[in-house]
Amino acid sequence: MDIAATLRQLGVALADYTGADLTVRSPIDGSQLASLRCHTRAEVQASIAQAAEAFTAWRDVPAPQRGALVRLFGEALRGLKEPLARLVTMECGKILEEARGEVQEMIDMCDFAVGLSRQLYGLTIASERPEHSMQETWLPLGPMGVLTAFNFPVAVWSWNAALALVCGDPVVWKPSEKTPLAALACEAIFARACARYTQTTGHTLPEGLLHVLRGGAGVGDWVVSDTRLPLISATGSCRMGRLIAPKVAARLGRSLLELGGNNAVVVSDQADLGVALPAILFGAVGTCGQRCTTIRRVIAHARIYDELLARLKTAYQRIATQYIGNPLDAGTLVGPLIDQVAFAAMQKALDTARQQGGSVFCGERVCAALYPQAYYVTPALVQVPTQVEIVHAETFAPILYVMPYTSLDEAIAIHNAVPQGLSSAIFTTDLREAGQFKRRSDCGMVNVNIGTSGAEIGGAFGGEKDTGGGREAGSDAWKTYMRRHTSTTYYGTTAPALAQGIKFEVA
Ligand code: UN1
Repeated sequence: MDIAATLRQLGVALADYTGADLTVRSPIDGSQLASLRCHTRAEVQASIAQAAEAFTAWRDVPAPQRGALVRLFGEALRGLKEPLARLVTMECGKILEEARGEVQEMIDMCDFAVGLSRQLYGLTIASERPEHSMQETWLPLGPMGVLTAFNFPVAVWSWNAALALVCGDPVVWKPSEKTPLAALACEAIFARACARYTQTTGHTLPEGLLHVLRGGAGVGDWVVSDTRLPLISATGSCRMGRLIAPKVAARLGRSLLELGGNNAVVVSDQADLGVALPAILFGAVGTCGQRCTTIRRVIAHARIYDELLARLKTAYQRIATQYIGNPLDAGTLVGPLIDQVAFAAMQKALDTARQQGGSVFCGERVCAALYPQAYYVTPALVQVPTQVEIVHAETFAPILYVMPYTSLDEAIAIHNAVPQGLSSAIFTTDLREAGQFKRRSDCGMVNVNIGTSGAEIGGAFGGEKDTGGGREAGSDAWKTYMRRHTSTTYYGTTAPALAQGIKFEVA
């Protein structure tokens, strides 16, 4: 693996970060990519202090000028799409094609944020009083903390950072300790964009608009607990969310949580299986089942259940024999799991599924002779008679549970019976079924005739229930990154009227 060359291309001088605290390994073959020094508590504190200082200047820069910086960052990403995608593949193991998609998602997000920088619209509100005007205005919130997961090591940060920067908020980023190199690359690319901004506009930028922190949960904890960061955005498991949310709440901070998913597709007897099948395959086995939006459950109508299962089995067999391997190779569709812990969790879930009456197809380790230190698996298909207990948990691996239903009411009840509520889909050609499902799915995202993963950045991304309720990326997700003023002005010349018709007159 040409890690040094790729990092050089991206502007990262690895020697600057080298130390003995954190070993970064590639899931492709288990080899060591780097050994990094982690930030100390004092350094984390200093970074947050600098971000707070940067805020006092950045908030006064007109939003379209803030957008100009994000535009330059997006342009830099366009130029470095290929090496950044390679780095993402080497560090988190997703196939190159998907890594390119991830960098494209960053570029799209920058474009979105640049447009938004001229559209941070407030409201004019009708006042109940004569000669009064009411306005709602959005203002920068403050420096924010972003915690991201290994599986989307750069795109999810960019959803936050692109919005935060145009909204006037500097960013303190604690990436997953499994993927710090991709974060260092983003930091270097952002530094280039900052330099170009100064060259082309003649304006100097405040120091420290972006801080990338190296370290594990301890560093994350210092970020989460710091009162100087009014907003913490965190992506990860429900377990992680349960640790973070009370800490942010205890200091009355704002949190934006994007936690676990347990996404299902309902396949109706009115579905076009030629549409459903490829969508299910991408959603269930893509990214080796390691997206928060991965399809984990298929709820199939009893009338098409056998046919769908047979076609899924054929496809899973083909994937197992032809498409698993090194994610840098062009023909590969399924790369490795992130590490041994993920592999053990997958095997444990499959054992539990068997104990609970499931019948497991595939799901075993492969390529072990070639890559003894890495964990490649054949995606697993698990037939369950009903939605047994194990199906309620998110296992971050390619396990697809398949179960039958006979009425739409039953399908929706099964669908909504898990604790998580991220993404959902129905495959049907029946307009009424689609309408019912869209209204009654309890998830944050609901699709018709496409899978649950691979959302575009233009919509608000996130989910309900144990998924945490946060919304990132498009639509009006930007509002979380700002504070709101309600402002009333009286422009008359006599004593101002009181609201609610109250009289309060001193003779
Ligand atoms: C994630 O897995 O945390 O919708 C994010 C998707 C991608 C983002 C996934 N656009 O699958």
